[in-house]
Amino acid sequence: MAEQRIRKAVIPAAGLGTRFLPATKSMPKEMLPIIDTPIIQFVVEEAIAAGIDDIIIITGRGKKAIEDYFDTSPELESHLFKNKKYALLREIKDISTLVDIHYIRQKEPKGLGDAVLKAEKHVGNEPFAVLLGDDIIKAEIPCIKQLTNLFERYSKSIIAVEEVPKEKVSSYGMIKGREIAESIYRIEEIIEKPSLEEAPSNIGTVGRYVLTPAIFDCIKETKPGSGTEIQLTDAIKLLMEKEDVFAYSFKGKRYDAGDKTGYVKAIIDFALEKEDLKAEIVRYLQEGGI
Ligand code: G1P
Repeated sequence: MAEQRIRKAVIPAAGLGTRFLPATKSMPKEMLPIIDTPIIQFVVEEAIAAGIDDIIIITGRGKKAIEDYFDTSPELESHLFKNKKYALLREIKDISTLVDIHYIRQKEPKGLGDAVLKAEKHVGNEPFAVLLGDDIIKAEIPCIKQLTNLFERYSKSIIAVEEVPKEKVSSYGMIKGREIAESIYRIEEIIEKPSLEEAPSNIGTVGRYVLTPAIFDCIKETKPGSGTEIQLTDAIKLLMEKEDVFAYSFKGKRYDAGDKTGYVKAIIDFALEKEDLKAEIVRYLQEGGI
């Protein structure tokens, strides 16, 4: 395939968020805040920082708050203007002018693979990025940019990976690969949420992918797998029969905000980076909390 720049990103956001019930009963899990910023904003900002200018968010029932969030808010804007809160006004306006966002609805939550397939018509025949809202990644070079840079060099689908502790192996897609360059692997095995015995290694996939459009046909061939859902991991396994798929041990720190402890850790670390919060939070933690 000819060298191509990644211009489009798919952000699946149709999941039910059962791990965060009851909060997610009437609110999308992607809107849960890390202090004052909804998780989905970090993900959208990461895509933009990688030069992506066309974002497709896959939504479902009960996800209207995501569309409202990235839309203009005339009443709020005029209220902030009247009250001379200009800095906040700029921030609010920036959110709605960040990038071109398109929404596609997944009518039934049939899994991550099925959600990505919904973007086929919009993505067309070009490679694209997938960013999962559960993962927040702090990195000097945004994680998805690390992957798009590698795609430009190798023209291969590529997934971010990291070592995971034993007790988390059954929560992720797990791979085994052969190192072909520093931190870059050709994937030889991939399995969604294996038991510790089945896991091919301790290297787990993180929610950042660059995929060639061949993945769409692979998703169509994929039968329901783990959790009886159409898994992206299973489609990637089929893709590996047709073309090489790479993994990259990315540089940065990942928070699995789809997990309660990961979510709390993200909030603590982000608070420690805010000048107006840091001192008090450090004092509180040193005192040992409750
Ligand atoms: C999804 C993927 C899994 C991947 C994980 C990364 O799982 O199915 O392969 O390792 O994201 O966060 P989920 O978190 O949706 O259960």
